[in-house]
Amino acid sequence: MQTNTMFDTAAPACQKRSLQRLRQSPAIRHLVQETRIAPAQLVMPFFVSESETKRGRWEAFTNFAIGDLLTPLQGVVDAGVQSILLFGVPDHKTEQGIGAIENNHFLGDAIATIKARHPKLLVMSDVCLCSYATHGHCGVLDETGRFDIALTLERLAQMAVEHARAGVDLVAPSAMQDGMVSAIRSALDDQNLTETGIMSYSTKFASCFYEPFRDTAKSAPAFGDRRTYQLEPGNRQQAIRESVLDDQQGADMLMVKPAGPYLDIIRDIKNAIPNRPLAAYQVSGEYAMIRAAAEAGVLNEARAIEESLLAIRRAGADVIITYFAAQFANAIGNVS
Ligand code: PBG
Repeated sequence: MQTNTMFDTAAPACQKRSLQRLRQSPAIRHLVQETRIAPAQLVMPFFVSESETKRGRWEAFTNFAIGDLLTPLQGVVDAGVQSILLFGVPDHKTEQGIGAIENNHFLGDAIATIKARHPKLLVMSDVCLCSYATHGHCGVLDETGRFDIALTLERLAQMAVEHARAGVDLVAPSAMQDGMVSAIRSALDDQNLTETGIMSYSTKFASCFYEPFRDTAKSAPAFGDRRTYQLEPGNRQQAIRESVLDDQQGADMLMVKPAGPYLDIIRDIKNAIPNRPLAAYQVSGEYAMIRAAAEAGVLNEARAIEESLLAIRRAGADVIITYFAAQFANAIGNVS
């Protein structure tokens, strides 16, 4: 049998206690803490309703009419969070989601209102057709039920241009369509919207953890699932390749989604593409698991939030999109 010298009882006393010495007080633990999270690294998602506010099970899953959004938004800003991500939830869907471009004034108005009130706030917007189309898929379908890729890319690019004109800082395409980043970049550049950036949902898995989001954003597919375009949960090599391609197409930021169940993928992509900011999205199902477990009295909510976010940062995410953004930002400093 081999002896492990680190834990060998014959080792000198100084070696046996060398690690615990750095854990004996909050001050020394904080001093040598390797991973930290600042409020400025968090992004808070919000759902913008075309008409009235519809409360969800938790406030994070509420569709806010723009007038009602301003109070929670102020709370986010006061907590020190400097970035938000908006999802438009229209009253009516159309067959192929053309409303995402033609009648999407409510989202444009919301962007303009938010920017007028909080000029320094970074505003991002989701670019995808699923909430706007009756079929609930993330692009335009042809008569055989497959994506019409050319038309899909055109529509996504038009949608990005509309959001950019309304004043968003970054568009966030989440449709997992091949070629979507270069199509959006060219369209923005053609319209002289060269300042608008792209945060691509570059590595997005076909995940059960989007379920609460789909209830809120009314974006569940009417038939089938998203496995023909989103990644299979077991595929590491494809996951890296997806982000590499979006990087080459000119995405300013990349993303792994969901976050917690895919920490290894976050690390792989950070290693493969170290010079691009990487975001990770702690999605609605990850949020719901923590909230529900806390409500059932089986987890301490504040500690579960902190540990889950620290793990995502430690894995390699530079930015975390999380429904806990404001709550966690408020709690930072109170944790010992
Ligand atoms: C739309 C979209 C989804 C999410 C973000 N954008 C759902 C999906 O792809 O089915 C999920 C976000 C979350 O669960 O919090 N394409």
